[in-house]
Amino acid sequence: MPAPITLFLKETLRRPKEVVAIAPSSAATARKMTAGVEDVDGPIVEIGPGTGVFTKAILDRGVAPERLTLLEMNANFCDALRTRFPGVTVLNRPAQEIQEIGLEGISAVISGVPVLARPQIQREVVGRAFDVMAPDGFFTQITYSPRAPIAPDMRAELGLSTHHRGMIWGNLPPAHVFEFRRARH
Ligand SMILES: C[S@@+](CC[C@H](N)C(=O)[O-])C[C@H]1O[C@@H](n2cnc3c(N)ncnc32)[C@H](O)[C@@H]1O
Repeated sequence: MPAPITLFLKETLRRPKEVVAIAPSSAATARKMTAGVEDVDGPIVEIGPGTGVFTKAILDRGVAPERLTLLEMNANFCDALRTRFPGVTVLNRPAQEIQEIGLEGISAVISGVPVLARPQIQREVVGRAFDVMAPDGFFTQITYSPRAPIAPDMRAELGLSTHHRGMIWGNLPPAHVFEFRRARH
């Protein structure tokens, strides 16, 4: 099994439109993306885990592997994730199928899936995730833009509130982490 960075670069060259990054996220980004998973009790789903930087951070926060499900559409990443994280459920399925994996009341969705500037993807990935999340569940998204990765009209359509968790200069490229929750009425 190649080192995570070698596998990441290989898959970036093979499938640039899916991986959409030049390197795995940094450990600091992973900490910001995963903060709060230690405070929830329900299932946790990570979408677009790649080589598992966020997966490791989730487990490092004390989440039992059995509570964690990964949805990754790249089969080579899935093979590496199964080897690296025994006990974690690794599904070679797109995030768009989150409603079909038999989980409800999901406490947190941690997303590395590129959703910026594609309204249809936002509806299919973020909208469907909230359909199977607990009422107080949270969704974190990494993006390389300072703007929220979901436009205001789409947030209104999906009934979501937004919180900018912060920027991580040390990421390659610098990254922003946004958190979405159901807006309270
Ligand atoms: C930018 S990489 C992020 C990898 C990792 N989370 C990180 O931050 O280092 C995007 C990942 O999302 C995966 N991906 C892209 N579209 C997806 C989708 N619709 N469903 C599941 N995974 C997807 C890619 O295969 C890739 O592993």
